[in-house]
Amino acid sequence: MSVKNEKIGIFGSGLIGGSWAMIFASVGYQVQIYDIVPEQISGALKRIENELKQLEKENILRGTLTAQQQFKCITGTTDIKELVKGAAYIQECVPENIELKRKIYAQLDAILEDQTILASSTSTFLPSVLSAEMKRKSQVIIAHPVNPPYYVPLIEVVPAPWTKPEIALKTKQLLLDVGQKPVLFTREIEGFAVNRVQYAILNEVWRLVASGVLNVRDIDSVMSDGLGMRYAFLGPLETAHLNAEGWANYCDRYHQSIYDVSQTFGEIPKMEGPVVAEIAKQLEEMCPINKLPARREWRDNCLTQLSQLKKKI
Ligand SMILES: NC(=O)c1ccc[n+]([C@@H]2O[C@H](COP(=O)([O-])OP(=O)(O)OC[C@H]3O[C@@H](n4cnc5c(N)ncnc54)[C@H](O)[C@@H]3O)[C@@H](O)[C@H]2O)c1
Repeated sequence: MSVKNEKIGIFGSGLIGGSWAMIFASVGYQVQIYDIVPEQISGALKRIENELKQLEKENILRGTLTAQQQFKCITGTTDIKELVKGAAYIQECVPENIELKRKIYAQLDAILEDQTILASSTSTFLPSVLSAEMKRKSQVIIAHPVNPPYYVPLIEVVPAPWTKPEIALKTKQLLLDVGQKPVLFTREIEGFAVNRVQYAILNEVWRLVASGVLNVRDIDSVMSDGLGMRYAFLGPLETAHLNAEGWANYCDRYHQSIYDVSQTFGEIPKMEGPVVAEIAKQLEEMCPINKLPARREWRDNCLTQLSQLKKKI
């Protein structure tokens, strides 16, 4: 693998911006990171360099270029025009604040070039909401990663009603080329898919704890020691397909019980009041707040090993 000439802009050099920079540099794109805070850029570059070296030492660096070669692909700038100039793709990674994002999209709208795809990392805002006021709205799309994107490959690619189809297809292809797993939506929808599924799970987990059926440790175990084990390899539909003589047979056998149990789910919880404090108490017994950074590191390490296992089998 050799370095490429195409330029990728990363707008915002925080947690997600830094990860995107490493992903694009791993296959040799010329990556430029932009931030309004100069120290933020130098800090991000330092963090990226250390992380790449560490990954190389542990033999888990992505791509075939060395850590040094990958790091050389990444530069920083505080000049928005420099970032935009000649960029094939810009990944926006500023904090989740609609006013801020809209202000930035207005700035970019005035200087964006014809070929540039503008993709947002937003977890919550619909692409039509972000780009409604733009002249160049047909070049905007969502590319929503799952944290930490260096190890969790899924990207939700969500077009606005006015996003040009070729922008959506090019985004998907680019993300495939850098080794992510993009899923391309046919239309925008609140929560995209990850959060819609995640919220359905959170709602039921809340109800089971709130009604005293299971405690926090045990309901989390239902996922991490049960369902999650297979979901790391198979989705719920293929799981069902394998759990009977095919999907049609699964529906035949279980549709009535799924419907009956689903009838007992109850109200959508508001996630406020004393249950919040009760869940917090039990979670903090499992992992005190001051141990969260160490636990995140442990999680990332587990995900690294899982992603290697998945590649191997
Ligand atoms: N953190 C996650 O778990 C996660 C997961 C998926 C998606 N996202 C999304 O990614 C985006 C970024 O999140 P993050 O966690 O990396 O945030 P972060 O706070 O770590 O980083 C944001 C960066 O944007 C910079 N910034 C702020 N205002 C700016 C401006 N006007 N111009 C340029 N840069 C500016 C900040 O200096 C900072 O470096 C958000 O939209 C978030 O919803 C986050």
